[in-house]
Amino acid sequence: MPVLTGAVPIATTTLSAIEQSKRLAAYTAVDKHILPEHKVIGIGSGSTVPYVVERIVAQGRELNKDRVFIPTGFQSKELIVMSNLNLGDVDQFPTIDVTIDGADEVDLDLNCIKGGGACHLREKVLAEAANTFIVVADYRKNAEYLGTNFTPGVPVEVVPFAYAQVLRKLRDVLGSPNATLRMAKAKAGPVVTDNSNFVIDAPFSREIMKDPSTILAKIKMLTGVVEVGLFCDMAQAAYFGNEDGSVTVK
Ligand code: 5RP
Repeated sequence: MPVLTGAVPIATTTLSAIEQSKRLAAYTAVDKHILPEHKVIGIGSGSTVPYVVERIVAQGRELNKDRVFIPTGFQSKELIVMSNLNLGDVDQFPTIDVTIDGADEVDLDLNCIKGGGACHLREKVLAEAANTFIVVADYRKNAEYLGTNFTPGVPVEVVPFAYAQVLRKLRDVLGSPNATLRMAKAKAGPVVTDNSNFVIDAPFSREIMKDPSTILAKIKMLTGVVEVGLFCDMAQAAYFGNEDGSVTVK
């Protein structure tokens, strides 16, 4: 796994070590993958992605005026608009040059858990639409196996009518006895996605998570499941900012 050192000049704002690591990963990935010829760019969700947009904005108005940016949800739409970048839709631009997104965890084969922010359906659409899909994250997300540090489980977006049945099948048939419906912070009710669906978090054993494609296929077969936050064989590269200022590239 290559480690880059001193690759990116970083602005001097005081940030926590984790925020600096996110920014380092984001800046390095943008410098490497968002090239002048790229005109349609997918923007993911989460707390690392604002640094992606910050670095793209720094490439200058001249380059960005001919580009269109496709969001994965409400947050990235706001980010694009607030940054005075051109907002587009995947309906208009079904082929994306590069999508950059965060991840909750990435394994040795670049399989990812995504959906910590409940955006994984749209994130997967934009990852699939992209010629190149790049992941950016801080060092805590870099793992040998999925589920090592990210313990809530695999996010499963489900239509509300089917959630109890899907929960039961995840617990009793697919081997996730602690699967739970994701609740809003105040516990006033379930988290509702940008697509008006619910999310179940399903933790699986190490044995099962060693083969994420198999469990992904099984979960997708459950009636009522809209999308699963396992991204298998989708990312071309992942960048992790480290505490010592280096970047690990997978
Ligand atoms: C949202 C996601 C995010 O990309 C993921 O949760 C990572 O977020 P962060 O950059 O805040 O760690 O999948 O659904």
